[in-house]
Amino acid sequence: MTPTLGVCYYPEHWPEDDWEDDAHRMAAAGLTWVRIGEFAWSRMEPRPGEFDFDWLDRAVDILGSHGLKVVMGTPTATPPRWMLDKHPDMLPIGADGQQRGFGSRRHYCFAHLGFRAEAARIARILGERYGQNRHVQAWQIDNEYGCHDTTLSYSDAAQSGFRDWLSQKYQSPQAMNRAWGNVFWSMEYADFDEVELPVQTVTEANPAHLMAYRRFMSDQVVAFNAAQADVLRGLTDAPLIHNYMGRTLEFDHFDVGRDLDIASWDSYPLGFLEDRAPVSDSDKLTFLRQGDPDFQAFHHDLYRAVGRGRWWVMEQQPGPVNWARYNPAPLPGMVRLWSVEAVAHGAEAVCYFRWRQAPFAQEQMHSALLRPDREDAPAMGEALAVGREIAALGEVETGQSPVAIVFDYPSEWAWDAQPQGPDFTYFGLVFDAYRALRRLGLSVDFVEAKHGSLSGYKLILAPGVFNFAPETLVRLSQAASGGAQVFVGPRANSKTEEFSIPTPLPPNLPGLDITVARIESLPADAPVPVEGGGTVLHWFEHLEGAADATLSTEDGMPVLVSDGALSYLGGWPDAALWSRVLARACEAASLPTVALPDGLRIRDTKTHRFAFNYGTEPATFDGVTIGPAGVETWQR
Ligand code: GAL
Repeated sequence: MTPTLGVCYYPEHWPEDDWEDDAHRMAAAGLTWVRIGEFAWSRMEPRPGEFDFDWLDRAVDILGSHGLKVVMGTPTATPPRWMLDKHPDMLPIGADGQQRGFGSRRHYCFAHLGFRAEAARIARILGERYGQNRHVQAWQIDNEYGCHDTTLSYSDAAQSGFRDWLSQKYQSPQAMNRAWGNVFWSMEYADFDEVELPVQTVTEANPAHLMAYRRFMSDQVVAFNAAQADVLRGLTDAPLIHNYMGRTLEFDHFDVGRDLDIASWDSYPLGFLEDRAPVSDSDKLTFLRQGDPDFQAFHHDLYRAVGRGRWWVMEQQPGPVNWARYNPAPLPGMVRLWSVEAVAHGAEAVCYFRWRQAPFAQEQMHSALLRPDREDAPAMGEALAVGREIAALGEVETGQSPVAIVFDYPSEWAWDAQPQGPDFTYFGLVFDAYRALRRLGLSVDFVEAKHGSLSGYKLILAPGVFNFAPETLVRLSQAASGGAQVFVGPRANSKTEEFSIPTPLPPNLPGLDITVARIESLPADAPVPVEGGGTVLHWFEHLEGAADATLSTEDGMPVLVSDGALSYLGGWPDAALWSRVLARACEAASLPTVALPDGLRIRDTKTHRFAFNYGTEPATFDGVTIGPAGVETWQR
């Protein structure tokens, strides 16, 4: 598939006289897609049941008449003010017990069934009007589920929904008490109606209770999305998409993604470097104007899996944003680099956020392709260059990568419920593994722990998955006996599905005689040195059993144990230890690796090799010198 470019546009923000010229300039800039509508509910339905779509009809017509394809957004992330009079209890409640207010966006609780019905209603009305419109060639449902910490809510709706969910899952309070171990601290319940949401407990809540609540809230996001997807399915054949966010793990994206056709995400490399990438303060300075060299790629690969191969960047940062603590401008060339990098990871489309900088309201400091005065902003020139470049690339065929990381959203909730040390996050552990692979020049696929296929990979990592389904264990050991190098751990399979310690003790890997006899968590400045170089950080497991210790601490305690191609890693490796572990694994798997200069990353597809320089200095790779923010491509 030849990738295309697009832009996010808000016709309701601009005088109608500008629309024609905007559409003309979008088409002239080589853009294909224009996403509209996702925040325009107050203009679509100014009063309950009173609709005004004339303006939207005209906007769609004008865009379409310039050959542009519309992505129609359902506006459910921004319910109008009147909605609160209809459903005063639809607002989310924070963990502090405070109700979140009207006056920005995402002011709804996913568990509120009345609002869910309103969302399905407006989706139906839009679907009926535009489902067969030839210019509307894709749909976006809602906007950035979970953004602004909106997955978890402690509302009355969540409370009663949770009780219902528990009663269906456990059938009797006694069964639930047994599953959770509620005999501990006399937490036993006689009735599901006695169960509260796990918040504002005096000390920590039962992790099994927390886990059940997290699963329940994730299911609410899935159900909220499905309510709109189901309605739209009957009214359009165009693909259904959602735009996910970076490092947002509070709901299971694989579960949401099963009801959609394409996954997309909103890529803000500089905003994310500042506010959510797990990087040191010195790297924040080094990559201030480029973004983290692995954060975008990580999400491209993850969302490719969520979209079952089909994914877009729905919003691409075009210049300074408004929402991080500091909002620097990208190095010249970075908008181009980020866009081509998305294509290298298989994006079908990259859309810039947004067409023209808004002079009013919350995002007036957010850059765009056009300045508020309609002159081109610097990103416009880069977008034009990207258009030419991807046309010259032709088809980019993604293909299967040689390496897989087994990924599991519930494991993020599990280690959040019981971190056992302030530095232990599932995301951080997986991200470190991903970065280590990329530093060796490897291209990576994510595979969903529950359902993903592991066949065809040469190297498979499964760090931190708290509980493997029996089928996943079978797939892992089949992969190892089929010749793939498989690395499980640390902290893998260490809880039952209901969040207890299993016996026999973890990791319970068929084919590997090893037991985690005890674990310790460690402050960041107390790493455990490993013989031959590198250290174990944050988390160290004391291993017993007959499997061969292939790496040990300087004190002689096993860190990595193996039986044939199946290995267990009993700690969180630092960067040096990861490279040692992976370099050996790649050798055993006959996987070529390269030592890349700092800031340089490569990505292989079936058809092309790409190199990206996130550094501020020129870097040389394969005899080619690539300048700062530079991109180089080779046909394979
Ligand atoms: C995204 C969001 C957009 C806009 C943008 C600003 O998270 O979807 O609506 O707010 O951020 O960077």
